[in-house]
Amino acid sequence: MGKDVIVACDFSGAEETFAFLERFTEEKPFVKIGMELFYAAGPQIVRDIKARGHRIFLDLKLHDIPNTVQKAMRVLSNLDVDIVNLHAAGTAAMMRAAMEGLTRPDGTRPLLIAVTQLTSTDEQAMKNELLIDRPLDEVVMRYALNAKQAGLDGVVCSPLEAGKVHEKCGEAFLTVTPGVRFADNDVGDQKRVTTPARAKELGSDYIVVGRPVTKAADPVAAYRRCVKEFVG
Ligand code: C5P
Repeated sequence: MGKDVIVACDFSGAEETFAFLERFTEEKPFVKIGMELFYAAGPQIVRDIKARGHRIFLDLKLHDIPNTVQKAMRVLSNLDVDIVNLHAAGTAAMMRAAMEGLTRPDGTRPLLIAVTQLTSTDEQAMKNELLIDRPLDEVVMRYALNAKQAGLDGVVCSPLEAGKVHEKCGEAFLTVTPGVRFADNDVGDQKRVTTPARAKELGSDYIVVGRPVTKAADPVAAYRRCVKEFVG
């Protein structure tokens, strides 16, 4: 694993998703299935996409008491996905329980990564609503370290944070980074964006790319451009 482009399949149903994936006749992109598609289409969508030969990042961001997360992770481990995630804010105890739940009887498991602070949460909301008084980047780094100490494989973060996360948690600790746009793309609702080439320079291990590929006039060409810039 490592250095690949993950396409965010942010579609509302199975039909639209398969119509999109069928455009790829030569390659099998690594895909991200998020809450919208999973809740709309159910676990069968995961099995169906897997059966077509794609690797899958199941982006469900679990956050609950350790016992519940452990049991939910056990269910997800049976889906044979490649990466799953949770919120680091659920504490180290929850992350350790997740690791236990995810590990299959034969010792194998999907990679487990943590969301540190959502990029939609700013320092003002953290301070005024969550009563967290520390600077945002300090919180992100501490949560990343908590995840590392709990045995997780990496974090979701901005490409701009990837270098610092690697410095703190080691080169092998994965940075999975959304917020990617081509230099000539619309930024849309993403605030801090980087190009695939810049994400590579900054040390991202995986880039998560949604609309620049899914909404492109030629999604296959856009995907290939991402791979060329990021993987080389
Ligand atoms: O379309 P776009 O490239 O912005 O899609 C990025 C994907 O990454 C979306 O599925 C979005 O939910 C996800 N994501 C993000 N920022 C985060 C965490 C996840 O954009 N901090």
